[in-house]
Amino acid sequence: MKENGTIWISGTHHNIFSIGQMLTELDFKILNVITWQKTNPPPNFSCRFFTHSTEQIIWARKCEKVPHYFNYELMKELNEGKQMKDVWAMPAITPWEKKCGKHPTQKPLAVLTRCILASTQPNAWILDPFTGGSTTGIAANLLGRRFLGIDKEEDFLKISIARKHEIENNNTAALYKQKLNGFKSKNQLELYLANEPKADYGNELEF
Ligand SMILES: C[S@@+](CC[C@H](N)C(=O)[O-])C[C@H]1O[C@@H](n2cnc3c(N)ncnc32)[C@H](O)[C@@H]1O
Repeated sequence: MKENGTIWISGTHHNIFSIGQMLTELDFKILNVITWQKTNPPPNFSCRFFTHSTEQIIWARKCEKVPHYFNYELMKELNEGKQMKDVWAMPAITPWEKKCGKHPTQKPLAVLTRCILASTQPNAWILDPFTGGSTTGIAANLLGRRFLGIDKEEDFLKISIARKHEIENNNTAALYKQKLNGFKSKNQLELYLANEPKADYGNELEF
């Protein structure tokens, strides 16, 4: 990672505490712990405890002293003009996100879109070393960011490549941007992207 880079790590109660501990030991500075509140969680069939309906996403920066990028104004705009909070209520993936096959733990594009818009500028390089069906990559490319994904399972990379080919069709990409949850109107994202402040990230493969 670059010195001013940030990392997003999603998890559940099974692993998120140990990840937080490791980040601290590695001198990362935890900026937020986002709670993704699933608006349509699967039921708890055992009826022995509360239905799991959240996932946590840690957002941390690499260096204590090097400032990071945060698109505060856009986040505020997406939250009716009030500061965006660290609880995001969003539904699980919708059928159009599974057209190329479904990864068993595929994330909704809307969640990744918000993470990327909040923490990067156009043309940024984004790495997902556990890419699965590459929701991160599809969100990155829809938003004009560059992407590198890694996964140990070839079948998941096949889904990723099919999804990438799907959005190479400009009409499909435009339609998907309109369908994303988390925006006030179907054109809000496209209008924002057309005027988004540009940054010079250069051409080198840096993260
Ligand atoms: C939670 S899934 C990612 C899902 C992805 N965010 C999506 O929306 O499709 C984690 C992925 O990490 C991959 N993985 C696990 N251990 C790995 C390793 N050591 N190296 C590369 N990939 C690994 C798994 O195959 C799995 O696809």
